[in-house]
Amino acid sequence: MLEQLFRKKDIVDDKNTQLKRCLNAFDLTLLGIGCIIGTGIFVLTGIVAATHSGPAIIISFLIAGIACAFAALSYAELSSSIGGCGSAYGYSYVAFGELFAWIIGWILLLEYGVAIAAVASGWSGYFNNALVAINLGLPEYLINPPSSGGIINLPASLIILSIMLLLIAGVKQSVKLNTIMVFIKISAILVFIFIAIFNVNPNNWSPFVPFGWFDRLPDGETIGIFAGASIVFFAYVGFDAVSTAAEEAINPQRDLPKGIVYSLIFCTIFYIIVSALLTGVVYYENLNVSDPVAFALSQLGYTWSSALVATGAIFGLATVMLVLFYALTRVIFSMSRDGLLPEYLNKVNKKTQTPIKVILTTGILISSIAGFVSLGELAEIVNIGTLSAFVIVCIGVIALRSKHKKDTFKNKWHPLVPLMGIFCCGALMFFLPSDTWMRFLIWLFFGLIFYFIYSKKHSKLNQI
Ligand code: ALA
Repeated sequence: MLEQLFRKKDIVDDKNTQLKRCLNAFDLTLLGIGCIIGTGIFVLTGIVAATHSGPAIIISFLIAGIACAFAALSYAELSSSIGGCGSAYGYSYVAFGELFAWIIGWILLLEYGVAIAAVASGWSGYFNNALVAINLGLPEYLINPPSSGGIINLPASLIILSIMLLLIAGVKQSVKLNTIMVFIKISAILVFIFIAIFNVNPNNWSPFVPFGWFDRLPDGETIGIFAGASIVFFAYVGFDAVSTAAEEAINPQRDLPKGIVYSLIFCTIFYIIVSALLTGVVYYENLNVSDPVAFALSQLGYTWSSALVATGAIFGLATVMLVLFYALTRVIFSMSRDGLLPEYLNKVNKKTQTPIKVILTTGILISSIAGFVSLGELAEIVNIGTLSAFVIVCIGVIALRSKHKKDTFKNKWHPLVPLMGIFCCGALMFFLPSDTWMRFLIWLFFGLIFYFIYSKKHSKLNQI
């Protein structure tokens, strides 16, 4: 199903790929939860509690959730009124024209590409700990990138290559499979919640705010609750993917906003409960490990539940990667069909009916990134890209309000919602480290050079 999601509606001309309208609000909510719950909660919660927020990570999650809520309402409005499966790329085209659409598309490539590497890095931690449990653990230098004292994060690299092969073979992601995966992930977290709730030691929540609200250190790094919020924001990345199901929703005007908002509310509540319990059962300083949720259970002596949670995480994170990889290849595919990226990227292999060249090129690239860059750095880059896309979607709501059809979803508090979205997402961007900003600006710079040298001349839509 997801291979159909990322096609730009205005150039779809193949009747065989006409999307079937079969998703209701419940399916869309599950789709959102399937893409959202991953490394953010299974891994980053521990790292951020230990190094940025302490037990106040609960507030970091709340702040990031509120920023996402404003962005989600804006996404809901544009997905309901403009529709199409190009998501932010498509909305920007309508609202601001090709240059902005290109910038957003270029940012989405960064968001999805690096997010896959980041989730792979989180997956690697759980996978290796499962190997350790059966005495087959890999040596440190094969599970850490150079910046963490190793040579390569081998499992992270290999899982991406495996997913790449699956995609080349033409694996069909179905709503059913997604539902099963969501069930496994949620069960794993529920097991944690039911055990942890009876083992909380309130002393672990003291000091509650060990790193303060916000500070920028001399080396450009940031700490404190707000800095933590700008990193755990990663845990929410993915709700925007629901908007790409616009052409498959039975009643997109009504159900897309519901799917986006419900999945976000569910995940926010879930995240706050899990982070409160995690810091309640293990002192925050000890949570800087690669599998904090399973680690907490094993610290409590629940070895079997710990293994169960680890298994849930291994499967759960694999689907997030699969979905994000699909998203990435379809965004590239779609931009390439619009002429903004080289044409060879939109060639579909006749036998497998998949865009093999895109999948191979991106798979090898992302596999290298996952092998050689650490999770924290990757998550920060994803966040700055995603947050900027959210800001532009909020601006799009203000720009397009007067053009909306009557029966579409509109937030009642206009223009407060998009303005708050711009403010909150902009603030979270500010709280990210200086290095992340530098990398982001370099990415944008190369994007603009590419646009003016190549895309502008080859654009198909510009000539209409
Ligand atoms: N939100 C997704 C995760 O946490 C990307 O893995």
